[in-house]
Amino acid sequence: MGSNLALNIAASGFPLVVQNRTHARTEEFLADAGPLEDKLAGAETPNQLVAALQPPRAIILMVPAGAPVDQQIAALAPLLSPGDMIIDAGNADFNDTRRRATELAEAGLVHVGMGVSGGAEGARHGPSIMVGTTPEAWQAIRPMVNAIAARFRGDPCADRLGGDGAGHFVKTVHNGIEYADMQLIAEVWGLLRDGNGAAPAEAGRLFGEWNKGPLSSYLVEITATVLGTEDPASGRPMVELILDRAGQKGTGRWTLIEALKLGQSATTIEAAVAARAVSAQRELRLEASTRFDAPGDGATPFDEDDLEAALLAAKIMAYAQGFILLAEARRAFDWDMKLSRVAEIWRAGCIIRSALLDGMAEALSGKGPAHDNLLLAPSFAKMVGRTVPALRRVVCQAATQGLPVPALSAALGYFDGIRQARGTADLIQAQRDFFGEHGFERIDRDGQHHGPW
Ligand code: 6PG
Repeated sequence: MGSNLALNIAASGFPLVVQNRTHARTEEFLADAGPLEDKLAGAETPNQLVAALQPPRAIILMVPAGAPVDQQIAALAPLLSPGDMIIDAGNADFNDTRRRATELAEAGLVHVGMGVSGGAEGARHGPSIMVGTTPEAWQAIRPMVNAIAARFRGDPCADRLGGDGAGHFVKTVHNGIEYADMQLIAEVWGLLRDGNGAAPAEAGRLFGEWNKGPLSSYLVEITATVLGTEDPASGRPMVELILDRAGQKGTGRWTLIEALKLGQSATTIEAAVAARAVSAQRELRLEASTRFDAPGDGATPFDEDDLEAALLAAKIMAYAQGFILLAEARRAFDWDMKLSRVAEIWRAGCIIRSALLDGMAEALSGKGPAHDNLLLAPSFAKMVGRTVPALRRVVCQAATQGLPVPALSAALGYFDGIRQARGTADLIQAQRDFFGEHGFERIDRDGQHHGPW
């Protein structure tokens, strides 16, 4: 990622000095730079790197999240001059970014938390870039950031979304939605494979078809390619040879932690993170699969149009939850973030880019809380109204056949929860009052009350 981002910056006309802990890597990188070598120079140590740059300096870090970032900052900060800038372009816990922004500001330095999405390919040819920093620092780096970012109809997929941790927060939520999107697709793949007996190539063709419609997205596109790929050695579908144990580096979990802290529902994302955890417990799954039989009714195949519509409905729920979480974070941290701008800069370059995002940007562009909720926007309300019946049928049938669809179910549960004018928290409040005298509000009188228990 780091070398590709450096090549992208050099190719966009900005000279830069690169440094890696292992200097041999830097030498290899420079040797392979080809026509870009004029724009690139190498440094062996942080001291050399800083000495090679003119103040005000901008230093981009691309190292694993957590302690490595603090170690790099600790090595660099004493060498820098007031007004110099450290840009963290990795995935970072936004709480760390906020702390680093404060600490560096105290030393007269500027911290920029820059979420970069698009994988290695995106970093080289145009990622989506989510920036959190001061307006002044943004003005200084904006030409470079805009030049290296992906473009959607000419508009750079990059912007400042607020101060301190805003960029990394948005990138974290992007990844949470990425987890949900991937899990929803994987669940539908499971229904095709285990419910309909579809071979990977057949399922791949279906995803390829869906990629021409409203589901058109990078993740659906690569799903079609992946399912259609064979292992060169055995000729077997590649996906069948991959161990069903998902890795995760933590950004999905961070999204949930922040959603819980901000009192928001991110259940579709939670289901996706939890499904990865269950996938990792392979020994438990192998043991349980021998103890519990699947329910009998495996004969009815899933309707393919229903699967497409169910995936669309659930995907909209995941995005709706993600955007509400962003709206709440904006309020809590006083960020001047426009949700419509977030949707706009996700339209190209990032992993969750999809045809739906242009419409989301439009739907979220109005003013007031109603416009923070995609489900209340007329265009999405209509789409949801059309597709939710299929989501219900798919979730019911999957439950009957014993096929796991935790994210599809969570999306449906969320929808039915927000659609219910009178919920069941009346009983929760009564129980809280019964055992803890916590009090409740009444629908017919003002103030706090207790029940006659
Ligand atoms: C991106 C990706 C990128 C990375 C994920 C993978 O936007 O380019 O999200 O950041 O691939 O962090 O995350 P997991 O390893 O947790 O799946």
